[in-house]
Amino acid sequence: MESWKIEQGPVLRAEITVPGDKSISHRAVILAGLSNGTCKITGFLPSEDCLSTMQAMCALGVEIERPAPTTLIVHGRSRQLTAPAGDIDCGNSGTTMRLLSGVLAAQPFRTRLVGDASLSRRPMKRVIDPLTQMGASLQAEGPKNAPPLVIQGGTLSPLHYHSPVASAQVKSAVLLAGLFTHGRTSVTEPSQSRNHTERMLEWFLVGPHIDGLTVSVAGEKTPESRDFHVPGDISSAAFWLVAAAAQPGSHLLVTDVGLNETRTGVLAVLVRMGAHVREIIEVEEGEPWGAVEIQGGKLKGTVIRGKEIPNVIDELPILAVAGALAHGTTVIADAAELRVKETDRLAAIATNLRAMGVNVTETEDGLEIFGGTPLKGARLSSFGDHRIAMAFAIAGLFTEGETIIDDVECVATSYPGFYETLQRLVTERNQEIPVVASLPSREN
Ligand code: S3P
Repeated sequence: MESWKIEQGPVLRAEITVPGDKSISHRAVILAGLSNGTCKITGFLPSEDCLSTMQAMCALGVEIERPAPTTLIVHGRSRQLTAPAGDIDCGNSGTTMRLLSGVLAAQPFRTRLVGDASLSRRPMKRVIDPLTQMGASLQAEGPKNAPPLVIQGGTLSPLHYHSPVASAQVKSAVLLAGLFTHGRTSVTEPSQSRNHTERMLEWFLVGPHIDGLTVSVAGEKTPESRDFHVPGDISSAAFWLVAAAAQPGSHLLVTDVGLNETRTGVLAVLVRMGAHVREIIEVEEGEPWGAVEIQGGKLKGTVIRGKEIPNVIDELPILAVAGALAHGTTVIADAAELRVKETDRLAAIATNLRAMGVNVTETEDGLEIFGGTPLKGARLSSFGDHRIAMAFAIAGLFTEGETIIDDVECVATSYPGFYETLQRLVTERNQEIPVVASLPSREN
């Protein structure tokens, strides 16, 4: 078991980039594999989760060349995959299992999707329900509809699905299945979740129709092969943004980072907490991306709830750490989804913050964090969850005394190189930060 030792860090002054976006990398390799020709994907995230999706597509007959770790040449199969030789291992990746379920529901063969111990506890009923209604047969072998998931695909009928959860994974599974039906398939979600699938369907010229919270796709459509660039992951940048925001005198510039409006809630929350954030979208090619600059100061508590939750769902562990470092109370509510992520993140955050001396109340669907008291160094577990490991590594930069984080191998699922970047940032001080012309302030 690998552990990290973290000590109180200095003021951060740096310009950085972060690895490719995880959600977008999964979708790029799936849609390219379904397309009618060859697509070059650059900026691909070479993390375990995205490699699980890449290997799954290979096992389903898609030929993929990898001339560089972040470059894939995908030879699409015009929606016709082939039966895999054995089980498909999705590793730790819920996105791999749920998105592939949508595609496999329409393939004329049987597939068994398996995962690691954490994925084997995660709920699959959310994709089983709509895909069964479309005509596929899906059987969960684990308790309470948990993986392994056996899918017997076939001819699907279109569906208008009212999803009970604001989940981009559920929405994407249904929309991907919808490409194979003989009609129009729609998903209405209770609030807006990330829209990368919609944007990518548009980029691959099988554009969905969007009407408020309802997205629909026409069936019998094959994605048109096109090259695609994956921008940096704002969820990975969030760790450094909080590290800088909570430290007066810090100044961080993150370039080439994805600035999709369904993912930048973390910036809005940091602005509410008192951080000074400037951002600019420089390119919009399928996805928008650009630069974010943040200057550290004293943070104050805030409330994160309701419609904002899906937009910050993966950033809540690091925002909880920001809450502990801020003066006053930070409330997170309507976030029961955190209990069914890679671990029960509400419980994991509360346990680790308490070990650091923070007063926290855990509610059914959130946390109340009474911030502003000095954090104590402690020995913490990652609970096998990459975002818990990274969020508490950042907390460790603010503690008196040493912090140890155990079981950190899981970070490779989303952010290979995180610890090396951490070490570089704490040793390379006083960098000159280039001025990005006309970088406007983010208003609340
Ligand atoms: C993801 C969607 C989110 C997010 C996950 C990635 C995606 O999950 O938490 O890390 O790529 O679609 P849900 O859609 O289940 O909320």
